[in-house]
Amino acid sequence: DSVERGEYRHYMQKEIFEQPRAVADTLEGRIGPHGVLPNIFGIDADPILDKTRGIHIVACGTSYHAGMVAKYWIEELARIPVVVEVASEYRYRDVVVPENTLFVAVSQSGETADTLAAMRESRRRGYLATFAICNVPESSVVRESDLRLMTRAGPEIGVASTKAFTTQLAAFALLALDLGRRRGLDNARYLEHCKELQSLPRYIENALQSEPAIVKIADHFINKQHALFLGRGAQFPVALEGSLKLKEISYIHAEAYPAGELKHGPLALVDENMPIVAVAPNGPLLDKLKSNLQEVRARGGELIVFADERAEMDADTAHIATVRVDGGGDLIAPAVFTVPMQLLAYHVAVQRGTDVDQPRNLAKSVTVE
Ligand code: G6P
Repeated sequence: DSVERGEYRHYMQKEIFEQPRAVADTLEGRIGPHGVLPNIFGIDADPILDKTRGIHIVACGTSYHAGMVAKYWIEELARIPVVVEVASEYRYRDVVVPENTLFVAVSQSGETADTLAAMRESRRRGYLATFAICNVPESSVVRESDLRLMTRAGPEIGVASTKAFTTQLAAFALLALDLGRRRGLDNARYLEHCKELQSLPRYIENALQSEPAIVKIADHFINKQHALFLGRGAQFPVALEGSLKLKEISYIHAEAYPAGELKHGPLALVDENMPIVAVAPNGPLLDKLKSNLQEVRARGGELIVFADERAEMDADTAHIATVRVDGGGDLIAPAVFTVPMQLLAYHVAVQRGTDVDQPRNLAKSVTVE
């Protein structure tokens, strides 16, 4: 397997670095200078997407976090209400399904037991149609869905999902833009975001350059038992994904909070033994986030900030380090900022000497309940 891993030490590292290509492949032939291309969701998609007035997204693990980002995008661009739920809850709950609601299953493998069961259950619940975002064309989720958009991440070996996630985000961005266009999104804004999405592989490539800085930061986590991740808006799910990566492969207990919730509980945990990772893109919530970070600093928390290059961040906002990342525009920034989170988890795990590609107790695909 060392041949397949090539120059990389682990599959996970290789897969992190494959992301520019994987995302480019996922966008290939699906978006052009005039927008999202027709029929990319299947030839039956048009009447269904025209009719869609609500969306329920169901998934597990990392795929669930992709759905959470999509909620921010779809509601903002298409003004369609979105509910996101983990499949193991959704399948056993008496869900209310308003008329013309689309069911969306997200799964790298297309074989996750709870996601598949949720999709089968949705058949009885009166949805407009089912839609799959998936990485394996011959999988059960794909075979059983009405509409689909394949991610083209290629095989993912590392148990902790990386390129599957960013390609799911690319797929969701295509869906959000297409729905936006159908639901009256301003055309200039639509085209601007389409252009932005096409530049995503380039921004991811650029974000990968932060690796040497992150290797140094990883040092601070080696002897820690807990870590807190903070984000706001569509970066909150990115914080969740960052904390999931860290706990999966380094076995450090990590939690993520929307930064505005800090004072409603987690602030009580903050001291010098608690590294806090904040995702700080450039946007309307930046000032709010900065004041959240001041609260952390005032309590002696060790702060690591991943900040957009354009965000005005005082050099001393962070105790430990500020890593500058060019997030691109608002739409793609969550996908771009995911990359340094992945690299951080990876390098902490490597330094702690865990089995990065095969973390204890976890499986790549959970095909039994
Ligand atoms: C397992 C994997 C995760 C993955 C989740 C959902 O927990 O370890 O990496 O996100 O399953 O898998 P799916 O194939 O449905 O995306």
